Amino acid sequence: MDTKTGNFQEGIHFAGFEAQYREKLIMDTVITDYKRVKESLSGSWNYAVDQYDTCLRAKWYEENYENDAGMPYPMDFSFDTWDTIKVPSVWNLQEEMLKLYEGTIVYTKTFKYTNHGESRVFIKIGASNYQTVVFVNKQFMGTHLGGDTPFFVEVTDVLEKDNRIVLAVNNTRRRTNVPCENTDWFNYGGIHRDVEIMRLPKAFIQNFKIALVPNSDFKKIKAAVYINGATNGTAKLHISELGVSTDIKIEGGKGIVIFDAAPMLWDVDNPKLYDIEVIFEDDMLKERVGFREIKTEGENILLNGNKIFLRGICTHEESVENGRAITEAEIRQNFMLAKEMNCNFMRLAHYPHTEKAAQIADETGILLWEEIPVYWAIEFNHEPTYRDAENQLIELISRDYNRASVIIWSVGNENADTDDRLVFMSNLAKKAKAMDDTRLTSAACLVDHFEYKIKDRLCEFVDVIGINEYYGWYVPDFSKLMRVFKNSDPQKPVIISEFGACAMPKLRGTKDDMFTEDKQLHVFEQQIDAFKNGPSYLSGLSPWIFYDFRCPRRTHMHQKYYNRKGLLSPDKSHKKLAYYAMKEYYASLVSK
Ligand code: GCU
Repeated sequence: MDTKTGNFQEGIHFAGFEAQYREKLIMDTVITDYKRVKESLSGSWNYAVDQYDTCLRAKWYEENYENDAGMPYPMDFSFDTWDTIKVPSVWNLQEEMLKLYEGTIVYTKTFKYTNHGESRVFIKIGASNYQTVVFVNKQFMGTHLGGDTPFFVEVTDVLEKDNRIVLAVNNTRRRTNVPCENTDWFNYGGIHRDVEIMRLPKAFIQNFKIALVPNSDFKKIKAAVYINGATNGTAKLHISELGVSTDIKIEGGKGIVIFDAAPMLWDVDNPKLYDIEVIFEDDMLKERVGFREIKTEGENILLNGNKIFLRGICTHEESVENGRAITEAEIRQNFMLAKEMNCNFMRLAHYPHTEKAAQIADETGILLWEEIPVYWAIEFNHEPTYRDAENQLIELISRDYNRASVIIWSVGNENADTDDRLVFMSNLAKKAKAMDDTRLTSAACLVDHFEYKIKDRLCEFVDVIGINEYYGWYVPDFSKLMRVFKNSDPQKPVIISEFGACAMPKLRGTKDDMFTEDKQLHVFEQQIDAFKNGPSYLSGLSPWIFYDFRCPRRTHMHQKYYNRKGLLSPDKSHKKLAYYAMKEYYASLVSK
């Protein structure tokens, strides 16, 4: 309890300093911006490691260089003479001393602003792990939670000619975060996607969502426009290549239109995209969208009315050189390698990857499973944790709604089937459906390892069931997988969302030698044999995982803080034996 005694000094005595910054959470602020003009604030920022959160405690951002008597005050910071760091990046790979750092780093940058006729200005932070407290020109603008979704801060009323932004970023793993403090991947820290300025008119298009109307025989399109700054008016939608020009009546800040059209359908072999323009008063938004339908019918997944088997692979968002701040070139390489492996599908585990992934997948023709990190043992009975998870889901769906490649929203991974978890995750699944009835919902679940069957109460609330199983690796008795297949009657499509085994790249031995490529190959061969005789409800596979990735839990001599279940080495230079087994199996499915 903080008592304000006569000698009380807020900067050193106020233990409850964090609460004030949690009173204004930045949530659900996504602006549809794929093709909008944005000015970069990325590049060299000043930074300091702030292990004790002195910036927030002593309010460095107010820049009080004098005391109450107007005398110079010996500040403990000097923003513009601090060391510099690259934004976007993960700090772990920028400085040796930051390699394993978890805590707060304070970033700051000054920038000039001149008005170009716009009425409103926003700053977009593409992603920042995990808690980001935002200050602009000494004003507290709010706090964002969640390490992998974008947030937009309106700075219209605080901008001057010369400006300073201060971001206090804390990546400490916490029990009540999403994900919690225990995961199977490395906890990178930092502002790991771009920071940009957007100039907008007084009334602008906050969100624009467009898709084929489900079950309309691919002949109707629905578009929704959400306006910020006006309640009524008329928006105009143009898809010139389809000869579409239609008005959208805006009432209460929102307008919906459904119109006839017969677009060439987007699919993995023909990823057709259409240029779209939406105009509302002084705002013009461009988009580039593919039209396709994804649905389930009994045990099958249908893409544009045709049954499809998802030939997938899981991937984290990581590269050896850039960590979580993966580049566009690295994404394109991953998709090219996945296509080489005869994949038509990728599971972007276990958190929202950069929006560039879905934008590139739209162009290259890869179907995507996107996921929020409700991973393992979340604090399911903690309301602020639910609001954090739901906000990450809202921000992900708002961000990627127009991406044809995204077919599945996953609400989590490998959670125990408790009552609290069922409420928490079924609500997330319902929220996803309510926001987007054009896609499938899923979650990666665990089989009941007493009854050897798919028996997870969450399955009722998702369209497609993901099953993670490691028969042949964590569970040596491989015959149990066939028991699971035989004992289960899911009545909906099932994707084996994880299976695999570890292999140290180039380590050879017998099929029984742990951590050899030969053992990994043997597990994959047994899995593939099971799939060849698998149940009719098996509609897809995404082996764990594309390439080895950093993981603090993995200390074995053949792991050295890497999870070695990759089919490729961490830098993707070496393809393990199992890669070729999957490639060959998928090739055999291509014709089907
Ligand atoms: C789990 C989990 C992964 C993890 C993998 C493993 O299924 O979903 O995140 O890396 O197993 O144990 O390697």
